[in-house]
Amino acid sequence: MPQQPAPRPTDLVVFGGTGDLSMRKLLPALYLLDRDGHLDRDTRVVAVSRDGLTDADLRDKASSAVRGHKAVQVVEPEVLRRFLGRLSHVTVDVGGDASGWADLAAALAPGRDRVFYLAVPPMISGAICRGLQDADLVTPESRVVMEKPLGRDLASAQAVNDEVGAVFDESRVYRIDHYLGKETVQNLLVLRFANVFLEPLWNSRWIDHVQITAAETVGVGGRRGYYDSSGAMRDMVQNHLLQLLCLTAMEPPASYDRDAVRDEKLKVLQSLRPITETKVAEHTVRGQYTRGTVQGDEVLGYLDEAGGPPTSDTETFVALRAEVANWRWAGVPFYLRTGKRMAHDRSEIVIRFRDVPHTIFPGAAAPGAGSLVISLQPDEGIHLTMLAKAPGAGALRLRPVPLELSFADTFATRSPEAYERLLMDVLAGDSTLFMRRDEVEAAWRWVDPIIEAWNSLGTVPETYPAGSSGPAGAQRLIGRTGSTWHEEEQA
Ligand code: BG6
Repeated sequence: MPQQPAPRPTDLVVFGGTGDLSMRKLLPALYLLDRDGHLDRDTRVVAVSRDGLTDADLRDKASSAVRGHKAVQVVEPEVLRRFLGRLSHVTVDVGGDASGWADLAAALAPGRDRVFYLAVPPMISGAICRGLQDADLVTPESRVVMEKPLGRDLASAQAVNDEVGAVFDESRVYRIDHYLGKETVQNLLVLRFANVFLEPLWNSRWIDHVQITAAETVGVGGRRGYYDSSGAMRDMVQNHLLQLLCLTAMEPPASYDRDAVRDEKLKVLQSLRPITETKVAEHTVRGQYTRGTVQGDEVLGYLDEAGGPPTSDTETFVALRAEVANWRWAGVPFYLRTGKRMAHDRSEIVIRFRDVPHTIFPGAAAPGAGSLVISLQPDEGIHLTMLAKAPGAGALRLRPVPLELSFADTFATRSPEAYERLLMDVLAGDSTLFMRRDEVEAAWRWVDPIIEAWNSLGTVPETYPAGSSGPAGAQRLIGRTGSTWHEEEQA
């Protein structure tokens, strides 16, 4: 992969700079980048909000956020002092009076790179971009980072993209999908395109099906309001799971160049067979968690979570069967599944190979044989299951045996958090791991009709107890082709 250029002095302006994302992810990631020498000495972080904080208030909040972050582990006081010294707060009332914009202008230095990070709901992204333009803060080199949700359907995504695009050229727009910053996700490209042995098998001739799972033990917590207007389909499938599908299914790009990679991902999205109203019941499952026990703790059901009405048809679980209708993948189901309050945290891509065309060991086939698992969470690794002869002199018996690659053990070095990686790329001006406008819109084009079909058919999510593996419908979905979910195969 290309070398990162030396960091340049940058003014990083974070709108929503005192909010949840900023405190939980962005500021701790920036601290780690600072610690590891990835920020130029003169780089500054300007948090923008309506909160009226002083710089000292912001630094207190940021200090707690850094200390409380699991990836930081040991806080180095000297680094923390230097990092906090980079931070300042500016109060801007977007759409309000101009004084805030003037204060922001005063906080920026001419001659430094500018990155505007929009950690705000998408409906105010356009107003922020116009405010920046009116205040004359957008230089030709300025970049803008957009956080999800990137719209709630195709029309709203197009509207936001138009508004932001009226101020920033597409080459300057960085749309975040933090899954693309995960180390194993990038490793998937290396695994596929830097090794010779997988690619000949990577097609419908040798692959039976693919499972892509992102299961979380957490519930919606304090985000019930947002979640009620979103649901798992918009929150996880439209972006994270479809991006994983793209990287799994795409053709080899000509180079590791931002447009070469994104062109190939786009073709996958455009090849997804539409799930029409007549197919939606057979190809999709929605679920919603009820009260239950997750890893020993009793937890509330979705409808009891604060911040929303006592009834709701919002799904907290989706399983679906997608098909990439092209030459390579014809007839290969891609099962996508995501859920909150599941039994375990588990994000993985499972490639299930076909059985051999003819076995000379009849009756000896073992379940779980012939799969490649790319594990994203909780442990990053690659596990290949193959068949071996069970030791012993009796009748010949086959056993599935794992070939394991654990990144933690193999490299004995810390993997950067997704946000560290992505922030570093934004600062370096590399948008390969960010989504282009046409990708985001193609994903909505496929997802919208599914949601519309659910609505027009009045589909109600199947309930599943918190701490389970999801609703029974998910087993039926994959069972229709005679397959089972990976974890059941292992049980
Ligand atoms: C976010 C979703 O994009 O991803 C959350 O909005 C979800 O609902 C989160 O919990 C999962 O991210 P990760 O990195 O913990 O798998």
